[in-house]
This record gives sequence, structure tokens and C-alpha cells, in this order.
Amino acid sequence: MTVAKDSFVAPKEHFSRASHVRSLEDYQRLYRQSLEAPEAFWGVQAQRLTWFHPPDSVREMNAEQVDFSWFGGGKLNVAYNCVDRHARERPGKTAILWAKNEPGEYQAITFRELQHHVGRMANVLKAHGVRKGDRVCVYLPMIPELAYTMLACARIGAVHSVVFAGFSAESLRERILDSGAKVLVTANEGPRGPKSVPTKAIADEAVEGLTQVTSVLVAQRTPREVPMVEGRDFWLNAEMARHRGVCPAEWMDAEDPLFILYTSGSTGKPKGVLHTTGGYLVYAATTHHYVFDVRPDDIHFCTADLGWVTGHSYLLYGPLANGTTTVLFESTPSYPDAGRLWKVVDDVKATVLYTAPTALRALIKEGDAWVKKSSRKSLRLLGSVGEPINPEVWRWYHDVVGEGRCPVVDTWWQTETGGILISPLPGATPCKPGSATLPFFGVEPVLMDDEGRVIEGNGVSGNLCLARSWPGQARTLYGHHQRFVETYYSRFPHLYFTGDGCRRDEDGYYWITGRVDDVLNVSGHRLGTAEVESALVAHEAVAEAAVVGFPHDIKGTGVCAFVTVKPDWLETSTEQMVGALKEQVRHVIGPIATPDRVVVVNGLPKTRSGKILRRMLRKIASGETESLGDTTTLADPAVLDELLEKSLPLR
Ligand code: WT7
Repeated sequence: MTVAKDSFVAPKEHFSRASHVRSLEDYQRLYRQSLEAPEAFWGVQAQRLTWFHPPDSVREMNAEQVDFSWFGGGKLNVAYNCVDRHARERPGKTAILWAKNEPGEYQAITFRELQHHVGRMANVLKAHGVRKGDRVCVYLPMIPELAYTMLACARIGAVHSVVFAGFSAESLRERILDSGAKVLVTANEGPRGPKSVPTKAIADEAVEGLTQVTSVLVAQRTPREVPMVEGRDFWLNAEMARHRGVCPAEWMDAEDPLFILYTSGSTGKPKGVLHTTGGYLVYAATTHHYVFDVRPDDIHFCTADLGWVTGHSYLLYGPLANGTTTVLFESTPSYPDAGRLWKVVDDVKATVLYTAPTALRALIKEGDAWVKKSSRKSLRLLGSVGEPINPEVWRWYHDVVGEGRCPVVDTWWQTETGGILISPLPGATPCKPGSATLPFFGVEPVLMDDEGRVIEGNGVSGNLCLARSWPGQARTLYGHHQRFVETYYSRFPHLYFTGDGCRRDEDGYYWITGRVDDVLNVSGHRLGTAEVESALVAHEAVAEAAVVGFPHDIKGTGVCAFVTVKPDWLETSTEQMVGALKEQVRHVIGPIATPDRVVVVNGLPKTRSGKILRRMLRKIASGETESLGDTTTLADPAVLDELLEKSLPLR
């Protein structure tokens, strides 16, 4: 499929006049330079940061060991760069604008205040035995203490591992164990929309019997009382009040770890993606600067939770490194009604909105009136992230939300990449709705065929890989370097394999077509089918489970589970079984993984050698029953009839 030239949306002239990169030609020139002389290019970008000691080298690597190093010899501190230097230059400027769960309730935290809170928090962590290199697990709702904790860890050289507060106790426990954290920071509860997440109760369950965790620090978000374990649990607010706001910033090596963030892969076990200090911050700051075309008076509204990488790079680190005011949104776009996002935009006078297609799709369904009754005149730029944005949704974002005034940047990247790799530069790149367009500076995409050959030229599709290193890339999987090598650098030797399929069109534009591995992108979140399957088979009734994705109006991809039950459970009603199994996944992984459909069958489609025919299940779940392909490989053809019959009512 080729795309007609007329589908280009030209850069907005008013925007180009003032943007950092003003034309496609300027982008192309800079891009060429960044590939021809990467050391010079990144050496200049590194000057965005304040270094205690400048780097001796820009880039070093050992391709055999899959070992990358950026800005070697450089000493810096992330909290110093994100807080202190701005606190000195513009102390009264708002650093974090907290939009609380209840509409109309806001709290502005200036850079000076942020510095004090972070210093206090850092001293609290030290008092609880946290030293440089130690891991701190953070299980907090979207409250300022979450930002304080992350920055406090960075300040003292501790490694944070933030776990999204929608994950279950079991998921949290698994992550605490893998990272070896000895301190857990949580809250009594986390109001979110009409509900509240019982974070402390979940944390209690997660650390039960774990001697590894010596302190649990509990932020008090609401007056609600929660049981506290003597000697282990401490009220964070009281602890912070006991400590000074002054805490020296540790001199960190550029390659010292900054954080671990767990993400799903194609096996059952989440991967602890490790990012380091210098390269990560240079990359987050540089991409934030160019892709969001930063202006000094920006109010940057990224709707992601800090528990995901989008929150790490473009809610916290990127914006704060650049001295930008960032919005911390505790609620959801639909609370108390579908006008909430636009109310926040108007209330805080957001200039940049960065959100996910799944949120836009949900809002589109509620009708344009919610959008139109808001002003939105503060907005100048719109961003999208997390999953492919459907061209119609892109148009709606551009025409209705942005009233045709604001460029839209569709940004492609991953937890492992640390920052945006493929995206338009607003003001420079002509867009095509649905395409993430062109690579960022220093990024070299390569398409590979399944046989491991490079696919040259335009108008082609293949497996998306990246040649050469970029400063923001993950260095390893925490404690499992061999798994890092196998997952990302073995499918195509010397290339980083993204796991995404991709088309490069006639104009050289990139179109991400979705995952080519057993990973689902559900509402912009990654979910391994193997993880959901192991949660299902952990239920006493389940004999076998196979999980596949199917196209879903709002989530992008929905989760469909096919299960067989053990003989003792055959009498249980289907309705009861389906309810119990949805609850099972919710309980084991968290609400985000809850299957949209559970189909209980007598047998799964298998080959004669016993391999489950997932491709067939995917087609059935997607309603593409006309094109099931070769069904003669089925060991038991009767299985198919039952599957078709039971899946039909789902359509
Ligand atoms: C996967 C990474 C990047 C932060 C949020 C998700 C998909 C991400 C796009 C986009 C098409 C996208 C890819 C990628 N993805 N952004 N703009 N267009 N697909 O991070 O959880 O690590 O997921 O999200 O499939 O591999 P993540």
C-alpha cells in the first residue's frame, strides 16, 4: 500500500516561525550530521545538563558484550539537574502543578519548594538505611510524594523501581524480590476517579514475610486510617518533618544506574529494564526539547502515570531537566465526566498535551460537545504515545481538540529506549496521520526480514530494528544481562530488535504496525500473553489456557482467553467460571490485564505434535473466521467446530 502525497499535513507556518527546527530541510541536515558525527552531536546535547565533572568521552561500546557507555568519566546528579539549578535561577517558578482527583483542586509546587521536599525525602531514605546503589521500590498513586521519592533516590544515588499502583500484590512482590529493594514507599490509599486504590493494604500483602524489606514509608493522602506494623511502617509525612531539607547531591558516574522499570515480554516473567544516569537524562532532555519544542513558559501536561516510562521521561525527568512546569494529574479523563481532561487543560492553561490514543478513542465516543465547551486556547502542541494512532483519531485530535492550530506529534518509543525514537518535529516535519514519520537525531532504524536480511529502500515492511546505540537506551535487564542480550540482540546480531513490525512507505515514513511477538498492547500498556496464561493456569479449575489479542474499539487490543477446565469443574456454569477467571487475572496481575473475553472450551486447537495454534485462535478472536488458513494440521478437527460456535456470540 502506498500513500498519496496529498495525505501530508504540512507544518503550521505560525509554529515553524518560532520552532527550534524550522523546516524539513533543517531536520534532514541536522539528522545527517547526527549520524555522520554522533560524538559531536551528542557532545553538544550533553551541555544541556550541568556536569560536576565533564565527560571524558561521548560514546564507547563493546558490541560483543552488548555493553554501551555514554558520557564516560562524566559526573552529574539527576536531581541537581532537575531541581537545584532551577531552584537557584528561578526559585518561584512552578515545577510541579498537581491536579488532584477532585475537579478544581490544584497545588503548585515551586522549584524552591521541590528542592526542600526532595532534600527532606532524601534524608528520610538515608535514615532508613538507603545508600548509593540500593534499590527503593515505589508503589504510590499520582501524588507529589511520588515525584519527591524518585528525585530523592536520584539525589542520593539510590535506584528507584516504580511499580504502577494498578498492579496487584503478587506483581508488586515479584518486582520487590527481583530488584532486592529494602525500602518500600507507599500511601494509605490512592483516590482515582470515583474509586480509591487500597495501596497500603496491597503493599502489606506484597511484603508479608519478606525480611528483605526493612522499612515501609507510608504517605498519608487521605485521613483514612490503615494498620501500621510497629518497627516496619512509618508515616512519611512525620518522617519528612523530622529531617532537614538540605541534602548534598551525590556525584554519580554517567553510567551509574538511575532506575529500574519492569515491563512485559514474551515470557511469563516481567523484565527489569535498567536505565543509567547521564545518557538517559541527556536523551530525555534533548527529545523533550525538540519533540515538544520547549518554550520557557510551557505548561507541559503529560497524562501518563509516573509508573510507566512515559511518566518517567516526559512527565518528570525530561521537562524538569529543561526547567519546564509539569502537570501531575491524579484523576482520570472521565472523572467526574468526559469533560475532565479539557477542564484541566483550561484550568492549568496547558500549552502541551501528551496522551494516548486509547484515551482519545474513549473521549471521541462521548461526543465532541465535551471538548467544544472548553476553551483550549492555551494549547499549542498535541502529542500521542503508546500505540498506533488510527488516522481518524489523529484527525479528530488535530481538527477538534486542536482546532487545526496545533501540530500533532505521534511519538514511537519503548520502555527500553528511554525516550522518543521516531516522531515528527513540530514545525518541521510534514505529517501523515497514523505515521510516527521520521527518526529522531542519532537514531537509525533498519527493517529486517524474517530470514535476517536487511530490507533496503522504500515501500517495504519488516521487523523494526535499530542500528547503533543512542544515549537513552537501556543498558541491561537488572541482574539478567544474558536475558537482555538474548531478548534484544540475538534475533538480528548487532541490531537492537524492538519487537515491532513496521512499514517504510514510498516517502521513507515509518508506520508501526504493532508487535510481532507474544506481547499485546492493551490501552497503550504492554502485556505478555504468557503472563496472563500463567495467571489463569494458577487457578485450580484451569487445565490449559491460551491468550490472544483482538481488535478493540477503545483499548486498541483486547485480551481474549481460551481455557479448558479440569474434569472436577465441568459442572460449574460457564458464567460463574468466566467471572472467576476474570477475577483471577485481576487478582494475580492487576485490573489492566483483566481479559475482555474468556471462552471455556473442551479442547484447544493443537497440531499433532501438541503445539497450540495461536494464529488460528487470533483469527477466531478477531472474527476473521473466513481465513483460518490450513486447518488440516489440527490433531482434532472437532475442536474447531466448538471454537467457532462458542466464539460466535462474542461478535
Ligand atoms: C510499545 C512499547 C513508549 C512509551 C509507552 C509504551 C507501542 C508505543 C507507539 C506509537 C505505534 C507505539 C509499540 C512499542 N508503541 N508508541 N507512537 N505508535 N506504536 O511503552 O510499554 O514499553 O510499549 O508500544 O508496540 O513497542 P511500552
